[in-house]
Amino acid sequence: MREVMTKSMARNIFYGGSLFFILIFVGLTLQSHRYIVTTSTNTATLTDSVAAGKHLWEKHSCVNCHSILGEGAYFAPELGNVMTRWGVQDDPAAAFDAFKGWMEAQPTGIEGRRQMPQFNLTDEELHQLTDFLMWTNTIRAQDWPPNDAG
Ligand code: HEC
Repeated sequence: MREVMTKSMARNIFYGGSLFFILIFVGLTLQSHRYIVTTSTNTATLTDSVAAGKHLWEKHSCVNCHSILGEGAYFAPELGNVMTRWGVQDDPAAAFDAFKGWMEAQPTGIEGRRQMPQFNLTDEELHQLTDFLMWTNTIRAQDWPPNDAG
């Protein structure tokens, strides 16, 4: 075997290596996509209202203060499990009442507490956000968050 690497050998290693890892990357992407669509998403309960709630979540940038399943900002509580924390996950009517009560009470103005803005949402929007948070609460997040407090 020769002692020096020629230019063409280096080029082949570069192209071959790049191609090899691009293929692995494409394969992993396809596998993740398939897993999300067929296994990890509970499509049976994914209603239009849940999707509308997700849009509201994005439109009002709730994630700028909150985290959801660990993703987001750490200014305000984790909301992926808020319905469990409130003890209303199994009762949609109670969940709506609790959520509406919370949203309408903001900002609390309590000295020394972090404040959440008033979003002035309609009852329909409050229903959609409740549905979104309840649906998110059913995602099997491999025991995340580690405790109820998030
Ligand atoms: C500017 C920051 C900010 C934004 C934006 C924000 N929140 Fe909050 N949120 C807070 C803070 C701070 C608290 C905790 C307040 C407290 O405990 O007094 C909170 C608490 C909550 C709680 C109660 C959590 C619990 O554990 O009891 C819910 C539910 C909630 N927010 C929903 C939302 C939704 C839905 C949106 C988007 C429409 C949103 N928040 C946007 C700051 C924010």
